[in-house]
Amino acid sequence: MALRELGLRHFRNLGTQKLRFPPEGVAVVGENAQGKTNLLEAVYYLESLRSFRGAGDSELVAFEESTFHLRGLVEVDGERTTTVRTGFDRARRRKKVSVDGKETERTVDGLGLLGAVVFSPSDVNLVNGGPRLRRRFLDMALSLDGNEYVGTLSRYRRALANRNAALRAAARPRAVEAWDDGLVFEGARVTQMRRAWVADWSDAFSDYATAISGRDSVHLAYRPDVGRGPKARGRDLADGEDAIRVLFADRLRACRDEDRRRGSTTVGPHRDELLFTIPTRHGRPLPARSYGSGGQRRTAALALRLTEAAAIRKRRCDPLLLLDDAFAELDEERSRRVMELLAEERGGQVILTAPKASDARLRGPTLERWHIRDGVIEA
Ligand SMILES: Nc1ncnc2c1ncn2[C@@H]1O[C@H](COP(=O)(O)OP(=O)(O)OP(=O)(O)O)[C@@H](O)[C@H]1O
Ligand SMILES: [Mg+2]
Repeated sequence: MALRELGLRHFRNLGTQKLRFPPEGVAVVGENAQGKTNLLEAVYYLESLRSFRGAGDSELVAFEESTFHLRGLVEVDGERTTTVRTGFDRARRRKKVSVDGKETERTVDGLGLLGAVVFSPSDVNLVNGGPRLRRRFLDMALSLDGNEYVGTLSRYRRALANRNAALRAAARPRAVEAWDDGLVFEGARVTQMRRAWVADWSDAFSDYATAISGRDSVHLAYRPDVGRGPKARGRDLADGEDAIRVLFADRLRACRDEDRRRGSTTVGPHRDELLFTIPTRHGRPLPARSYGSGGQRRTAALALRLTEAAAIRKRRCDPLLLLDDAFAELDEERSRRVMELLAEERGGQVILTAPKASDARLRGPTLERWHIRDGVIEA
């Protein structure tokens, strides 16, 4: 898929502009604080309906304005196009999404229409930061891949919120347990889908990591919370959803008193971990978050984005690559290897940003250059 046109109105500092993107993409060059990341944020908003920087929708509205609007004209294949429109009203806190002129009933119906992936230097937080960021990565990858996950996850969250409210109110045991079946049912599905995603892609991840660093460096593993109890030892979660359900129900029973004391549910996929590990000579792999070098962590983050792109290519389309000054902190050797890996993905569109023209190296001089200054883009 490719982005043909982007219409912007009052999104951050980008003013009102209409941009027409070349099929192969563009390199956007501009100094610091001119709006390069804002532009990629706007493009990715059309994919995910949220900011990839974790900003709230109100922060995206230009200072002094009350609403922003975005319109993307997306080429689905050679001939077919789709128009996605979205807008947010700060005062009413309302988000609207329409696809080809029809307003979507649920925002999830507007998700994943571009098949885009963002590469940014802040991706290293995926490795260095807390598990919440990694769960969010998995949730995004799975949500953009299809509607089923989104529904399951939101039903799980609702059951969890209700159970926690009952725990906080110190309700009678029956009032707490009323939520258990739903929690276990949806939670096991969430666990199963996350497990399947990591099982499908962990080899590709390791291959990318090896290709970037030139040696066996980082691996990816899923550590579901339901696998932590003593009963889980020796059991294979690959046995499927029913096996996961039994484990989850056991854990929930075992933690009942603890949950009451704390006033919240202490077991379940909201406690899952996606682990980056580095191999060691004496057998046991160690978590990259605590033991990895700076280079190994950046490698892990890049390999994860490349894996995300590969998953999109397999299930949906050639990914639209959004590279936000992505090689800023990589050494020469690593950036050359990443560039080679990306260059192998022929065909897909690329929008990259860089502070200096000499940094816009991917696809070399073939990529059209645009300049950005104070939010204004000159093609
Ligand atoms: N809601 C908003 N309304 C207007 N301007 C905004 C808004 N949010 C951010 N900005 C402005 O956008 C600018 C930053 O843009 P951006 O993060 O895209 O810079 P950049 O070109 O990526 O810079 P760098 O090279 O440092 O990463 C800042 O000057 C900031 O004041
Ligand atoms: Mg930036």
